[in-house]
Amino acid sequence: MEVYHSIAEIRDRLKKEGKTIGFVPTMGALHQGHLALVERAKSENELAVCSIFVNPTQFDKAEDLAKYPRTLDADLALLESVNCDFVFAPSAEEMYSALPQMKFDFGNLEHVMEGRFRKGHFNGVGIVVSKLFHIVQPDKAYFGLKDLQQVAVINRMIQDLSFPITLVPCPIIREDDGLAMSSRNRRLSPEARKLAPHIFRILNEAKLKLEAEEKPQNVLSHVEEAFAAIPEFELEYFEIVDFESLESLESKNPEGQNALCLAAYLDGVRLIDNLVF
Ligand code: PAF
Repeated sequence: MEVYHSIAEIRDRLKKEGKTIGFVPTMGALHQGHLALVERAKSENELAVCSIFVNPTQFDKAEDLAKYPRTLDADLALLESVNCDFVFAPSAEEMYSALPQMKFDFGNLEHVMEGRFRKGHFNGVGIVVSKLFHIVQPDKAYFGLKDLQQVAVINRMIQDLSFPITLVPCPIIREDDGLAMSSRNRRLSPEARKLAPHIFRILNEAKLKLEAEEKPQNVLSHVEEAFAAIPEFELEYFEIVDFESLESLESKNPEGQNALCLAAYLDGVRLIDNLVF
């Protein structure tokens, strides 16, 4: 596995290889969910490339950026263990020698759910992912569906900017007790970690209720009450949306896919999860 910190060097090196590239962009603090993406990238392309960069432009709160775990040595060992071929781990100065002036506007896609609570987040994601796409020039890019809205935004960006890249959305990887894997889980106290699987339980209950044709308003109330019953949680949002447009649904979508999405604070840690059905 080769590790690069410079844009020019990784770009030249990958060009020289001239092979098909499966790309997994990450912010490090890697877990099994990321490794599953790298393994898939490796199995579907000649080369697997992973980037590790805690992107400052997608954080709306400086304290969140400061608290984000940085575990480069452990990450590199994990990537080596799944035979990743190349890692790009630039510094903030390397990525942003000048702060980008251009802005992404993803319309409704960026104003709902995460976008409502994390101002400028998807602009930052758009900037960094488009830069990474230009640097790595992958054939396929692998993103986890835990960040469902991010997948929708990147899909739109690939279409709007005609990137010659196939987006490969990959299923959420969960712990045995149902908690969606996330770099943030390691910040949970042992007590909070025990409570965290309630998120998946409540999402499943909501799905069953919708499948039983309960009105979305009743399902919303159920979810709010279920979280209120566990005072350690603070529910930020719960939405029933169309999987593609992310528009809120008045009733269960009979044609397309529905997605149940939520964000909740537990022990001061913001967790997100979703169920698509
Ligand atoms: O999903 C993430 O970890 C980040 O948003 C990404 C795609 C690596 C961009 O910084």
